[in-house]
Amino acid sequence: MKLFIDTGSVAEVEEIAAWGVLSGATTNPSLLAKEQGSPGDIIRRICELVDGPTSAEVVSDDARGMVAEGRALAGLHEHVVVKTPFSKAGLAACRELSSDGIRVNMTLVFSANQALLAAEAGAAYISCFMGRLDDISIDSAQVLAEVVGALAPSYSDSQVLAASLRHPGHVVQAAQIGCEVATVPAKVLRQMLEHPLTTAGIERFKADWQARPEFAEWLSGLVAGRQAVAAG
Ligand code: G3P
Repeated sequence: MKLFIDTGSVAEVEEIAAWGVLSGATTNPSLLAKEQGSPGDIIRRICELVDGPTSAEVVSDDARGMVAEGRALAGLHEHVVVKTPFSKAGLAACRELSSDGIRVNMTLVFSANQALLAAEAGAAYISCFMGRLDDISIDSAQVLAEVVGALAPSYSDSQVLAASLRHPGHVVQAAQIGCEVATVPAKVLRQMLEHPLTTAGIERFKADWQARPEFAEWLSGLVAGRQAVAAG
């Protein structure tokens, strides 16, 4: 499963991209509205930082407006994927944009039926929201499994993108279910990173090594020797 970061914050992308784990990013109007500066500059910068598919969402209500906005957003950077909200107009815009060779991420999908329509409209990514389903006591993992199961036999060109992920458990569930992508907020990515036993283990290894000063000296010498050879 590929990991994308779900944010409008360049600083968050810079932080997490440094880990070497990101394959893309998703933004949406709410996430971008939180940020200062030009949305275009932010989107382009995120494209460069993740060096992969970066979703930017249209905001028009009608298909014609969505297509015009989508084409303009796609022109910002080769990595831009146009996000259209699930609706009749969104489906029509998705069909026209994907027919033009522009990748579309159909978002705000909450059922297998909606996902099937999005796939038929040519969506390259289908964003299925987990957190917002859980918020209304609908089992998001069950819905996501239905979506993946419905698309798997016939829609290899449409990738299921798990979105609205509120905790690390959602990320594991998305992977177990077989989603191709999970788009994860920076807060959740940081939570995925941390474990108290890992922190304690690193401290223990360091302390035990430092208790043998000759070992530390040996390793420093080994490094210096290798660097000398590399420097020629
Ligand atoms: O990309 C969609 C995601 O940002 C929505 O997350 O937490 O607002 O449901 P949330």
